Amino acid sequence: MTDHTKEINRRRTFAIISHPDAGKTTLTEKFLLYGGAINLAGSVKGKATARHAVSDWMEIEKERGISVTSSVLQFEYDGFCINILDTPGHQDFSEDTYRTLMAADSAVMVIDASKGVEAQTRKLFKVCAMRHIPIFTFINKMDRDANDTFDLLDEVEKELGIATCPVNWPIGSGKGFRGVYDRDGNKVVTYSDTEKGTKEGISKEISLDNREELSEAIGQEAMDKLLEELELLDGAGAEFDLEEVRSGDLTPVFFGSALTNFGVEIFLQHFLQMATTPLPRKADIGLLAPTEHEFSAFVFKIQANMNKAHRDRIAFMRICSGKYDAAMEVRHVQSGRVMRLSQPQQIMADERKILSEAYAGDIIGVFDPGLFSIGDTLCMPKENFQYEGIPTFAPEHFARVRQMDTMKRKQFIKGISQIAQEGAIQVFQELAGGMEEIIVGVVGVLQFEVLKYRLENEYRVDIALEQLPYEYIRWIENKEEVDVLRLQGTSDMKKIQDLKGNPLLLFVNEWSIRMTCDRNKDLVLSEFGKG
Ligand code: G4P
Repeated sequence: MTDHTKEINRRRTFAIISHPDAGKTTLTEKFLLYGGAINLAGSVKGKATARHAVSDWMEIEKERGISVTSSVLQFEYDGFCINILDTPGHQDFSEDTYRTLMAADSAVMVIDASKGVEAQTRKLFKVCAMRHIPIFTFINKMDRDANDTFDLLDEVEKELGIATCPVNWPIGSGKGFRGVYDRDGNKVVTYSDTEKGTKEGISKEISLDNREELSEAIGQEAMDKLLEELELLDGAGAEFDLEEVRSGDLTPVFFGSALTNFGVEIFLQHFLQMATTPLPRKADIGLLAPTEHEFSAFVFKIQANMNKAHRDRIAFMRICSGKYDAAMEVRHVQSGRVMRLSQPQQIMADERKILSEAYAGDIIGVFDPGLFSIGDTLCMPKENFQYEGIPTFAPEHFARVRQMDTMKRKQFIKGISQIAQEGAIQVFQELAGGMEEIIVGVVGVLQFEVLKYRLENEYRVDIALEQLPYEYIRWIENKEEVDVLRLQGTSDMKKIQDLKGNPLLLFVNEWSIRMTCDRNKDLVLSEFGKG
């Protein structure tokens, strides 16, 4: 095995998904603590970022430097090199999350034990399921009163449609939380409320067969209940099967408390054993294996103004194969340019580190002179292939944008195009018109606010947004075969085009979509744009 292969094989790249407040940030902090990446947990993310993402874009803007730098983290643990991709919890940023998931090889799903499966968990899970990546479940906050364990597992199975296999089993919850039973080791690990920020717990490990010691440690009542539940579980739960985990059909479930640091290291250890090495990826020349191909990568996220003073734009890319070396030249396939990546860096906790090399599985951020778009491929200069694009998710809110000061037309076009390139908004035009009338589509309404704020602050352009009643957008799949201008739709339908000239239709409701399809039998509509 070459050094290069060894480096790739010890990499594990995963995203954490959860409904806001389930404990994603806290769990990430604890992971980093075990990796020794930071000395004291709690410094990962500015609290304001986590909290105010819900309503206040100004706050996000202020805190942006911090929140974004924490969006990709790398740490070492037990010989593994781990990359964690953080995903924004707020639903208005879910497109960002979708793209981040495209860069991950597996996902950790954090669920609040007293809330169960929540709206945002459901939405994010769907994206993971689409990619068939392994999903590991951490049921958090067991130190608070939790829902019944069987009910929780049942909910995951029914709501998300994935089989569950508990790797450990909780003993009580809230004030009555006594620890977990490790099914594999046939032992009970007693609960210890580890002080915030330290890793050594004072947990005891007791064999399930040692009933005397066990009842002394957790109490007779808790022990009886555990034995009863285990009996039920052995008769009901799914068998553990690594193949099914890897194909995303079975989720291993762990119980713990991120805040009190209980069950986190056990989770991490099991996770690392079960999660996959960097996965092969689909390109137009076939499936490319990370260890058998020279350097290649794709862009999954673009973030502007990470450093306000420098007005910089960072393109985040996932290395899909081979080794990256800062001295080497690469081809940016979409522009055909061969170039050296500028200031390749790794984003660590709250600092950026310029790096000289990185491997498949790693995420690097490079300075973007305005060249990169989401979904772009980079490869060796002698090669020329493209990775499968990242689908564009259908916006659900639309607004007409009016520019207040017509003298600043150029600035306006530049600003809106650049923001669109980052993927936060999608820009459309009237079907037959030019850029005179611009319609913007977003997945979450908060993005309208973001757009207005950023145009004012970064490009000094004032705009007025007039929200439109449309909620559904459809791409025309067979645009060569239909005459869009003559298409007969419903009276409330609108014909538009994207910046590449692809025709699209906007509808106010599903009925209108059905009517239009009925009236135009040859029309083939699609919910997703081609990346
Ligand atoms: P998020 O990133 O998923 O949005 O969640 P985050 O980790 O920020 O956690 C949300 C809240 O839940 C925080 O409380 C956090 O302390 C708490 N929390 C996380 N894990 C656990 C756990 O295992 N047990 C308990 N009891 N609480 C947990 P907060 O009051 O909103 O903030 P803070 O000021 O206490 O940090």
